[in-house]
Amino acid sequence: MFDLLISGGTLHTSAASFPGDLAIKDGTIAAIGEPGSFASLPAARTINAAGMDVFPGFIDVHVHLELPFCGTVSCDDFEHGSRAALNGGITSLIDFAIPANGQSLADAHAAWTAKAQGRSLVDFAWHLAITSDRHLDEIPEMVARGLPTFKEFMIYETEGWNSDDARLFTTLERVRDHNGMLLVHAESSKVLDEIIRRYHTPELMKQHGARLHRETRPNFIEAEAIIRAINWCEATGGRLYIVHMSTAEGAEAVLAAQARGVPVLAETCAQYLVLDDSVFDREDGHLFACCPQVKKPADRERLWAGLGDEICIVSTDTCSFTRQQKDMWRVGGPDGYGDWTKIPMGLPGLDTLVPILYTHGVQTGRITHNQLAQLCAFNPANVMGMTRKGDLAPGLDADVTIINPAESRVVGPQALRSRADWSPYTGMTLSGFAHTVILRGQPVLEAGTITARPGSGRFIPRTLPG
Ligand code: URP
Ligand code: ZN
Ligand code: ZN
Repeated sequence: MFDLLISGGTLHTSAASFPGDLAIKDGTIAAIGEPGSFASLPAARTINAAGMDVFPGFIDVHVHLELPFCGTVSCDDFEHGSRAALNGGITSLIDFAIPANGQSLADAHAAWTAKAQGRSLVDFAWHLAITSDRHLDEIPEMVARGLPTFKEFMIYETEGWNSDDARLFTTLERVRDHNGMLLVHAESSKVLDEIIRRYHTPELMKQHGARLHRETRPNFIEAEAIIRAINWCEATGGRLYIVHMSTAEGAEAVLAAQARGVPVLAETCAQYLVLDDSVFDREDGHLFACCPQVKKPADRERLWAGLGDEICIVSTDTCSFTRQQKDMWRVGGPDGYGDWTKIPMGLPGLDTLVPILYTHGVQTGRITHNQLAQLCAFNPANVMGMTRKGDLAPGLDADVTIINPAESRVVGPQALRSRADWSPYTGMTLSGFAHTVILRGQPVLEAGTITARPGSGRFIPRTLPG
């Protein structure tokens, strides 16, 4: 007897789309067959997915929930963030455990586990941020714990997070030797700081406001750092993954490196595919400050073209702040002028990742249903070593997201579950929000309503392919 049967829908695996039924037993996908093929077998429950798209549960590999950052803490904790994830059909996420001053990687692992346990409604895992040379010796132990991915920032000196070239080089050697991977936030800190210094005057800030966020981060800030990180990757042979790539130049550099056999991969994020830096001309332009910031329409088009080629994953880089938090940029109180360097940087995104790709990608014909399954489920699982997740196939965890293609929502507070009281996509009409979500065989969202309880998500130990 099956526990659950999903019948009558169109199944979208990483490889194909076809009308089919999916049977679940003990939290695992037990069988996939033609429509009606399990009709004679008993099932405790059947979900009728007629007219619906049935995908593997989506995976967001780049999330910052409850992160102390920019003088505040990102407002989505693991409960609210994972509610937003389910709303957007995401069943697993990977957050970044970043050691506070003096902490070891083991301490950071414990701290992030404490934030998620008993709260998360989706499955979760951690990348560990290396912010001190001391952390390098912990790499083998962390890989053994099922934490094979590490993160380094080439900026954020004021947070105490930044790595120099020597540490990047050494970490790449270590991950090469211990079957790990290094994720890098690539922006050129010294030149960025110099440009910021030149604009950081009361006169210019009064005149230009949040537009200075755009003016101080030209494309070469990202491109130079990506090229430098690729050089260390090529020299060491250590696996490298460029996070939140936002520029055409970065995409070209990754493409060229991959063509020479350098082991570098790259992700982009939904915001870089649908926004451009004209947002900083808006009255509320400061809300859009994120790092790296959204770029030009030509970058956006180049990133779309790279999907499934040099860009293997689309993530969110969720780091949500409320409007009140974003208002920290006012110098001298609410009527003061804005200092763009004080805006908490980051955007909410878990609710909207899949709807954006479904609406602007699948429904416009830019990507297929299968490419959506690859970019947001199959590749995330395979690249990050989630061996039980990422596709609709017998033997894998029964994580399933069902979308009603006929349903759309206008983005606004009613449509979203994030604690942020705004969205970069407010007013957009999007399809692709989750209709039904199954996590390890259990329905956790039904007809758009979350039914799971906080704490139902589990830690996912990971092993990278050898
Ligand atoms: O603006 C962003 N992306 N905030 C989160 C931290 C980071 O750099 O990913
Ligand atoms: Zn970053
Ligand atoms: Zn990030």
